[in-house]
This record gives sequence, structure tokens and C-alpha cells, in this order.
Amino acid sequence: VKSISIGLLGLGTVGSGVVQIVERHQDKLMHQIGCPVEVTKIVVKNLDKKRDIDIDPAKLTTDPNEVIENPNIDIVVEVMGGIEETRNYVIKALRNKKHVVTANKDLMAVYGAELLQIAAENGCDLFFEASVAGGIPIIRSLVEGLASDRILKLMGIVNGTTNYILTKMTEEGRAYEEVLKEAQALGYAEADPTSDVEGLDAARKMAILATLGFSMLIDLDDVKVTGISNITEEDLEYCKRLGYTMKLIGIASRDEQDKVEVSVQPTLLPNSHPLASVNDVFNAVYVYGEAVGETMFYGPGAGRLPTATAVVSDVVEVMKNMRLGVNGNRFAAPQFTKQLKSDEE
Ligand code: HSE
Repeated sequence: VKSISIGLLGLGTVGSGVVQIVERHQDKLMHQIGCPVEVTKIVVKNLDKKRDIDIDPAKLTTDPNEVIENPNIDIVVEVMGGIEETRNYVIKALRNKKHVVTANKDLMAVYGAELLQIAAENGCDLFFEASVAGGIPIIRSLVEGLASDRILKLMGIVNGTTNYILTKMTEEGRAYEEVLKEAQALGYAEADPTSDVEGLDAARKMAILATLGFSMLIDLDDVKVTGISNITEEDLEYCKRLGYTMKLIGIASRDEQDKVEVSVQPTLLPNSHPLASVNDVFNAVYVYGEAVGETMFYGPGAGRLPTATAVVSDVVEVMKNMRLGVNGNRFAAPQFTKQLKSDEE
């Protein structure tokens, strides 16, 4: 039986997790797709870096073409992060007829529509489940599970780092800087944590969710953003005394005329609110559909193995599609032209 070859772009927190999941869950993967699957090439920045997983050095390269131009690679998994350079690699991979799985919300929030179009033109899948809310299968749930409904509202805690920081500051009275360092050490934060704490990471995820949920191209610039970097332990202590919890909340809503509004901001929730008890690195996304009513999705929003699980599950779906000879891209074309509520003002 031919085995499926994965080429990895990046071997950081998520990339290492992908290698581990593919090895540890090989039996399950074989059962699902009917053949072995292997990570055969890995693009890294530094060949000599000390790593906490065992990797055959022969698999490592610093040349992305050894993955994206490699005729023996079936699926490219992009977990290197970044936007412009990464976009070029993804486009090249798709034009070389390679399916792509990415965990990159920065890339998908900015170039998602273009990349999905290129994927479709080349008969390839481009999946990005891990780009929003780490281990929670929210994209699948929104686009497939709720495919028949009209989504009216999305509300979520979609950044694990800021939720971790706010939780520890509230519960343990610790200082912002100290908890941020801890979140970085645990592998939750972005390479530059500014995008976490200033709300940009959450805004990117909300732009992706709103685009998919409302079937309308929402740009990052359409999201009103305020981060948490100005919040002090004293502010949180005060909220606690009043029976409230501070969370960084993303909200996307649409009205009867399909006008939308998307924002990310620190929000005071009464302790009885379901999102108030989502703590540490956990994420939660509340989805309100016209027919289904209220649903809520909860799970780890960052971290090596949860995020890698979402990536490898996308790989499984690509492999199933390859076997069936179909493509399964989740956002072919928007149903609606974008209309923002703020355009009225
Ligand atoms: N930095 C992100 C977070 C990682 O903290 O949620 C997962 O996207």
C-alpha cells in the first residue's frame, strides 16, 4: 500500500505536535484512511536547534522547495506562521497540486479568500481548522454541522493567551507581565505576543468565523479591536468584588438586513454568564442560529497537542477526499456582499 507523505513547513510548538500525533495515532489514522501516513520532510530555520522530540535529521531541510516542489509529497502542512512569505509558499504548493493544511489564522484572515480560490482552481483542498480556537472543531461545526441554518450571532473567547493571563491575574492576583511570560513558556502565545495581548489574534479569528458563519467576506479592518494590555490586577480585583469577570470577548452579529458588526474587547460578564467560567487556556465559542438557537463549543484554544490534533484531523479529511477523488473546501464563494452596520453611521 502506498503511504501518504506529509511535508511540514515549520517545526515549532504545533509542528512538533503534528509529528507526535502522526506517530502516536498511526493505527487510528491507518484505520481511517486505509494506508500509512508519514511526515517525510520538514522545513526548519535552524538545522542544529535542540528539540524536545526525536526527529531523523535526514528529514530536516532549510529549503522550502524540498517540500513544495517535491513530487513525493502529497500534503503540505503549514505551521511556520507569518504572512507574506508563507502566502507565496502556500500558493506555490497549491499550484504544484499539493493539498494544504494550515494552522495560520494570520494568513487565512488576510489572504483566505484568494488562497481558497487558488486551491479550487488547482483541484486541491485547503483546510484550516486549527486556525481558530485550537482543539475545538469550530470551523467544521459552523460550516458543516450548522450548514442548514442561518447564523445570527457568534460570541467567543478565542485567544488562549489572554484568557490565561486574565484568569491568573483574577484568581491569583498576579501581575500581567509575569503571567504573560508563563503563557509564552507554555507555548500558548504567538512569536510576538503583542498580537495576543492587543486583541489582533482574536480579531483575526473573529474575521474568519464571521466570514464563514455569515457567508460574507469580513476583513480584519472591519473588526473593532481593543486588547488587554492596560488592564491591572486592581481592575480585576474590583470586578471580582462586584461579582463580575473580565474576559476578552469577540462578538460578531448580523441583523435582519444582513448588516454585520464584529468587535473584540475586554468585557465585564456577570459570574453567572456561561463564558465567565471559561478559564485558563480554554476557549469557547457561542453560536446562535435562527433555527438551532443557542449552541456552545468549548475546549483548549492553544497548545501543542490540541492544536496539532486539529491539523492532523484536517489531514485525515484531505486523505479521505483524495481517496474519493473530490475536493471539500469549506468556503467556495460568499453568498452575500459585505454590509457593515458602521457604514450607516
Ligand atoms: N496565541 C494563540 C492563543 C494561539 O493564545 O490563542 C492559538 O491560536
